[in-house]
Amino acid sequence: MADVEVWVADAVALADRAEPLLSAAEAERSRRYVSAAARRLFVLSRALQRLLGSARLGVPADRVEIGRRCRLCTAGGDHGKPYLEGAPGLDYSVSHAGRLVLLAWSPGCRVGVDVEWLDRRLDPALLGARTLAAAEQAGLDALPAADRPAEFLRLWTRKEAAVKLAGHGLTVPLAAVRVDGPTARLAEPPPGWPAEPLSLTALPVPDGYTAALATTASPRLALREVIDLRNGVELGPPAAGRATRGLPVEPGTTN
Ligand SMILES: CC(C)(COP(=O)(O)OP(=O)(O)OC[C@H]1O[C@@H](n2cnc3c(N)ncnc32)[C@H](O)[C@@H]1OP(=O)(O)O)[C@@H](O)C(=O)NCCC(=O)NCCS
Repeated sequence: MADVEVWVADAVALADRAEPLLSAAEAERSRRYVSAAARRLFVLSRALQRLLGSARLGVPADRVEIGRRCRLCTAGGDHGKPYLEGAPGLDYSVSHAGRLVLLAWSPGCRVGVDVEWLDRRLDPALLGARTLAAAEQAGLDALPAADRPAEFLRLWTRKEAAVKLAGHGLTVPLAAVRVDGPTARLAEPPPGWPAEPLSLTALPVPDGYTAALATTASPRLALREVIDLRNGVELGPPAAGRATRGLPVEPGTTN
């Protein structure tokens, strides 16, 4: 077992307050977003990483260094799984969609998180190609057409959480990641893939979203809603109740 904390934050409510916490480079990048919704997600994601890093490391948020580790290249730059400089034992993962930002971290195991907006406009007939293994596709096809988009996205988040845990991202074909109930396996794992079996956990997010957590140990989960950013991260009670409160999605914003 390992302790895992997951923070859920609403970008529409919090992004304005998050803005002053960004580094100069992040602020510059945020100004280049054309979509206001995508910009808010970026701003809140980076601010949350800084605030939680600040609390963990005991340094001001603007002095937190977020590193990125790419599994495929040594070119450096702003890509690959994020990590906090100075906190080597801590693994974390971020995901954003619609108006939600999720951040999962653990001092005891590797983590990956993914959230998706339940986009009901997905065409049930097109779901699964290149993403699902044959047995997963058969299971999906057996469902009523109206239920397929949500089930597809539920599977997708589980697979994407796994590839984000490992740091490979979508360079690993999602069809190769076999979801079997609460576990994910790869028949031929690429270099750097964890030796441990991966545990998958559905996260209770607001209506309109689906989210999954992948971990290399069975998680002892604390789910927290971020309610303010003024004095560091102010958290709501660690209960699914607050986090499952319905938040309207922003149509047309899938990430
Ligand atoms: C990681 C990836 C799956 C994210 O997918 P997405 O649905 O667009 O975005 P999500 O909202 O779920 O996640 C975004 C977060 O993933 C994290 N992330 C980026 N690359 C990652 C990786 N390789 N592993 C784990 N997490 C990663 C970042 O923290 C990012 O948030 P931030 O930029 O606000 O800090 C996708 O962008 C990807 O596969 N990238 C890797 C591509 C790659 O490695 N190419 C080779 C380059 S040499």
